[in-house]
Amino acid sequence: EMFQEVSGLSTKEKKLAEILGIKKVIIVPGDMDVDSSIQLLLGKEAGDYLTAIAKKDFTVAITGGSTVAALKNFLSPSKSLSTLTFVAARGSLGNEMNLQANTLVSQFAAKCGADFRTLYLPENLSETAFMTMIQEPIVKEVVDFYDRIDIVVHGIGTAKEMAYRRDSGESVIKMLDEKKAVGEAFGYYFDEAGNIIYRINTIGIQLEQVKQSPHIIAVAGGTLKAKAIQAYFKNETAHQTILITDEGAANAILNK
Ligand code: BG6
Repeated sequence: EMFQEVSGLSTKEKKLAEILGIKKVIIVPGDMDVDSSIQLLLGKEAGDYLTAIAKKDFTVAITGGSTVAALKNFLSPSKSLSTLTFVAARGSLGNEMNLQANTLVSQFAAKCGADFRTLYLPENLSETAFMTMIQEPIVKEVVDFYDRIDIVVHGIGTAKEMAYRRDSGESVIKMLDEKKAVGEAFGYYFDEAGNIIYRINTIGIQLEQVKQSPHIIAVAGGTLKAKAIQAYFKNETAHQTILITDEGAANAILNK
């Protein structure tokens, strides 16, 4: 019975990878929305995967979020991991300090004995502030990393949840609603067809730079994120992406 369960999942993994147009999918049993401890399973798979592909002096861009945060329990110093540089993929996010990319890169680096780079900037910068900040040497140093990232580790969120978490104003929330935003990643919001309908004005890795990275690990699970996950991958996907998800999200996409 155990064998059937496992082989059943691997069939689903192949199907889902095909539907989403990506290299590989790993599905952990359960649904994060029903049992929040499933997020740890996602973290473990992602941590193990990162450990397996990491090579000496790799640069690893990390987004924030509770799912990416779950990786930190499964990282430890090793020959290659301790030579990594973890780079915050974006500036800070609202008030949630412990879910920020900046916080996570320093925690991951501490776990691995690795190096890290942070980017302390507010989200939703004005155009003028943005143009000034991006020329500052301390900002430029981090931004230059984005062109040579070896591994990206990122979360995917539902548009609503992310807009609320970021304290986006009423007008932005209304616009996301009207344009039917369903998913979010890297500060980009997507509709069901995968069109980018809004972008947060902050400094961070660009989708183009993500796509240039040879390794991409996306971690997101739970039935409620199914639409968000699908929307993100409908946008000209980075085909080299490995998605680590749970049965909750996988079944919701497969049984549509
Ligand atoms: C954010 C990332 O920090 O986490 C987003 O910047 C992502 O791109 C989100 O959508 C997901 O968060 P969580 O907590 O649902 O894993």
